[in-house]
Amino acid sequence: MLEVRNLTVKVEERVVLRGVSLSVNAGEVHAVMGPNGSGKSSLAYTIIGRPGYEVIEGDILLNGKSVLEMSIDERSRAGILLAFQEPPAVKGLRVAVLATAALNKRLGAPDLTKPADPSIPERIYSILERVGLPSDYAYREVNVGFSGGEKKRHELFHVLLLDPKVVILDEPDSGLDVDGVRMVAEVIKELKNRGKAILLITHYARLMRFVKPDEVTILYNGEVAARGGPELAERVEAEGYSFLNGGGR
Ligand SMILES: Nc1ncnc2c1ncn2[C@@H]1O[C@H](COP(=O)(O)OP(=O)(O)O)[C@@H](O)[C@H]1O
Ligand SMILES: [Mg+2]
Repeated sequence: MLEVRNLTVKVEERVVLRGVSLSVNAGEVHAVMGPNGSGKSSLAYTIIGRPGYEVIEGDILLNGKSVLEMSIDERSRAGILLAFQEPPAVKGLRVAVLATAALNKRLGAPDLTKPADPSIPERIYSILERVGLPSDYAYREVNVGFSGGEKKRHELFHVLLLDPKVVILDEPDSGLDVDGVRMVAEVIKELKNRGKAILLITHYARLMRFVKPDEVTILYNGEVAARGGPELAERVEAEGYSFLNGGGR
């Protein structure tokens, strides 16, 4: 479904990814691990087409077709969605208003404010419940005063709401307590069962105790340093990333 081919990326004249290749199929979880600053978020931003992430070499393909010429909006409409590591707060914009606008946009409705489909409000409430946010959060301003864990829940709320084909989760477990991590794992399993292709970016291996990845790639200094199955995540959990210094790859 998603294929990253020999990707080299520059941000502000600095190379942040070098020759990175990986792929993820429908119904699979591909975990991307690596120490801080190894390029995990840069990979996510480049895939969604965030301005400033300049592809120097390589390609990104969705179902065999390059998305490089597509804007961030076009890629989103094509079904690529990123749940951000650090989602921003948006003062004055309520959760339900953003959610309705996002769904309306998907449905091609000209008016973004009125639900284009009568089932939208009910969907918003049921998905809020699914991610463990009380229903009055529909009327809260997006991420304003949210705890770290609530921001993560709100990101997952959007993933379930927009129902993309390719889901990139950037550290969805950071800042969550153990129940939160379990909830994230349940949502990932649900997405997997629904045939989504999931790129799971995570610094720690603990989430993978609850959801086994089909493949694990470790980035180090912007390059693929190791690749394997779930046992690679277990090794990181046991040893940290020190074994990469001995020349992983
Ligand atoms: N917008 C940016 N401007 C400058 N440097 C950046 C930017 N985005 C990423 N980088 C740099 O790229 C490297 C990789 O960062 P990042 O992709 O965020 O790593 P990770 O998510 O693995 O912690 C870091 O050295 C970071 O400082
Ligand atoms: Mg990051």
